[in-house]
Amino acid sequence: MTPTSVATAHSFVAQAAIDDVDLAALAARLGTPLHAYSSSAIRQRIGGLQAALSGLDATIFFAVKANPNLAILQLMANAGVGADIVSVGELRRSLHAGMPPERIVFSGVGKSADEIAGALTVGIHRFNVESHDELLTLQRLAKAQGVTARAAARINPDVDAHTHAKISTGKSENKFGVSIDEARRWFAEHRQLSHVQLDGLHVHIGSQILTLEPFRLALQRVAEFWRELEQAGHTVTSIDVGGGLGVCYRAGEDHPVAAADYVGVIREALAGYRGRLLLEPGRYLVAEAGVLLTRVIRVKPGIERQFLVLDAAMNDLQRPSLYDAWHDIVPVSDESRPLTTYDIVGPVCETGDTFARNRVMPECVAGDLLLIKATGAYGASMASTYNSRPLAAEVLLNQGRYAVVRRRQHFEEMIAGEQPARHWETT
Ligand code: LLP
Repeated sequence: MTPTSVATAHSFVAQAAIDDVDLAALAARLGTPLHAYSSSAIRQRIGGLQAALSGLDATIFFAVKANPNLAILQLMANAGVGADIVSVGELRRSLHAGMPPERIVFSGVGKSADEIAGALTVGIHRFNVESHDELLTLQRLAKAQGVTARAAARINPDVDAHTHAKISTGKSENKFGVSIDEARRWFAEHRQLSHVQLDGLHVHIGSQILTLEPFRLALQRVAEFWRELEQAGHTVTSIDVGGGLGVCYRAGEDHPVAAADYVGVIREALAGYRGRLLLEPGRYLVAEAGVLLTRVIRVKPGIERQFLVLDAAMNDLQRPSLYDAWHDIVPVSDESRPLTTYDIVGPVCETGDTFARNRVMPECVAGDLLLIKATGAYGASMASTYNSRPLAAEVLLNQGRYAVVRRRQHFEEMIAGEQPARHWETT
């Protein structure tokens, strides 16, 4: 008997309700797997960050990729938050949700000419430019439209964010941004660009960052460069400090930095800066506000391990299989049960479809309802229909009430657009 197996579920924090909505009743009504987001929790995060920024000329641009559901974007827009987009799809979603174009910034290393032209047409606030080729493309397309594009140079500060390698973006080996040397040349030459107003700096060093040091280092490098540019006679009207603030995925183990401390680092590193600040948090605003509700299909005693087989799978939440990410998993019922150890898996036919290995859990039986926690960012947004599993429903919760914000995908919707090869053509 392991020491933990004598404990009871009371030492395990079950969670019966979120935003005053009863989760068992919600799952009974809407089925599982189900992504649920607390709008109160999201508003609290926005409010906390906005309060920390008070006195600064700063605007939050939500990184849409973290959770692009229209209802979430609408909530952001209503709270005065803008959108950081990386595709024309995200642009269209943001506009559709009522985000004003002047509150949209466009990041990303592979913006196509069509995407740039589309964003110019609607008049977005700013392009975060990541290569010289992109800068020239922006000039060409802005000239063709007879408009002036506002641009920021995305700096790669060569800073280690101490996060998972797949979500680290600010080291020189990463594909993102350009060196300060290259950005210096852009500023020196930019007067030749008749239709690009290059007057901003941008930096984003990675995601799920749990310490202040990487932010401090990156911002110090940006600050040094901004001072150098101003001395050389250039104007830097905006500095975009990116996103990356980490959240708690593992209670008791992850200790995210507080918004006030993060903003303190920005204030300190950019002291004396009089332009506008842009922030692009994604995860911080929505991750902990979301859960994935799932039911136990069966408990399978394996050859070496005991498996808890859920009705959610890697197609609903990729983070554990893609980044070995930990997500706390807790029961919805607080009924006292002995603890045991499971490998918690989904039904997809891959060993990678594993949410947790050797996880201590209250004993479960088929039909039990569980919560996979902190799934509000990069959960539904990264979902797929792998194994022909329709996309799960999404629901927004608010003080005792719920609204379905994405209905469960029907089989017909999943196969829409596919057809037998009837019409054979030649190129
Ligand atoms: N700005 C830019 C330019 C970005 O590339 C990202 C995220 C953000 C802001 C927002 O970062 P956040 O505040 O959410 O850390 N799928 C991964 C995360 C990928 C992040 C990609 N870029 C995950 O599930 O951990």
